[in-house]
Amino acid sequence: MKKLGVAVIGTGFWGKNHARIYKELTNTNLVAICDADAERAKTIAAQFGVKAYTNSAQMLKNKEIEAVSVCTWSTMLAKEALKALHAEKHVLVEKPMATNTKQAEKILKTAQENGLHLTVGFLMRFIPGLQHIRDAVETKKIGELVSATAKRVSEWPERIGDVGVVKDTAIHDIDVMRYISNEDPISVYAKIGSMRHRKFEDYAQIMLTYESGKSAFIESNWLTPYKTRTLTVTGSDAITRLDYITQELWIESNKESIQPRYPFQEPLKLELQHFADCIAEKKKPLVTGVDGIKALQVAEAALRSSAKNVAVKLKQP
Ligand SMILES: NC(=O)c1ccc[n+]([C@@H]2O[C@H](COP(=O)([O-])OP(=O)(O)OC[C@H]3O[C@@H](n4cnc5c(N)ncnc54)[C@H](O)[C@@H]3O)[C@@H](O)[C@H]2O)c1
Repeated sequence: MKKLGVAVIGTGFWGKNHARIYKELTNTNLVAICDADAERAKTIAAQFGVKAYTNSAQMLKNKEIEAVSVCTWSTMLAKEALKALHAEKHVLVEKPMATNTKQAEKILKTAQENGLHLTVGFLMRFIPGLQHIRDAVETKKIGELVSATAKRVSEWPERIGDVGVVKDTAIHDIDVMRYISNEDPISVYAKIGSMRHRKFEDYAQIMLTYESGKSAFIESNWLTPYKTRTLTVTGSDAITRLDYITQELWIESNKESIQPRYPFQEPLKLELQHFADCIAEKKKPLVTGVDGIKALQVAEAALRSSAKNVAVKLKQP
């Protein structure tokens, strides 16, 4: 089996996990890593026995590299993703994909024009419990979908200094809501503000409404002294709850309460395995560039809604 030659741009807290997993997977070959911080690049490259770069343009000249994970600061993702696509590499760009929708659209267009594979790091979709919920919604095992509530709160991860909680954190749940409902919201109303963070918002309550009458509520903040990441989905016949941290899933109805169990799996490993498989088999990814753009559009609408204190209508395709 030919291994896919891969590289990682940005090997901080998250990118070094990409590098580790590319080393672990049997069908990927980690060729090199790049980090703007020379010391970090050297340390991570030595840890995985690959070449270190501080300039991605240099690294991308290497023909052995076929695909790249872009895991830089959020404000650098678009620039680095575009560089990699122009160098004819397939790209997994971390969420939020770009700092704005316009940049994200440029990434998608460049990938399409060059016939390259593009996916976005919406990790939650790879958690088996979330896939179970999506299936339960689609097959109406919980009846008609009524509403969904997501909570993603913790202390401020201080390394994040270039985007606020909406584009960094709530964006996961914005994507989850699209994924489980298989529908785009028609309007968003949000209350967003900053209590401790000087530059960006650190709390957000976002309500999404859908043409079919269902609604979703997303609570995100960097103020809560402990970490919670949960999803509750209410159907007309049953309610499901998922704890993203433990991956525990509950389904409760009038008749029964069940707890389907899946062996704990590292979502990032599933995501990167899928990335490599999709490239090898020329398959459409579970998370497309369009998914990335749509999540950013909702995030931007939430920020506008809060700034103007009005519900913002979203354009349907
Ligand atoms: N999908 C997820 O669940 C998930 C989880 C954590 C982080 N992320 C995303 O991953 C990205 C990185 O987050 P982090 O927590 O690792 O941040 P971090 O600050 O720990 O790491 C970012 C690294 O990128 C490097 N860097 C910045 N610009 C660069 C450039 N142009 N070229 C090369 N290196 C560059 C920095 O030196 C740093 O080492 C963010 O976009 C974040 O949203 C996603």
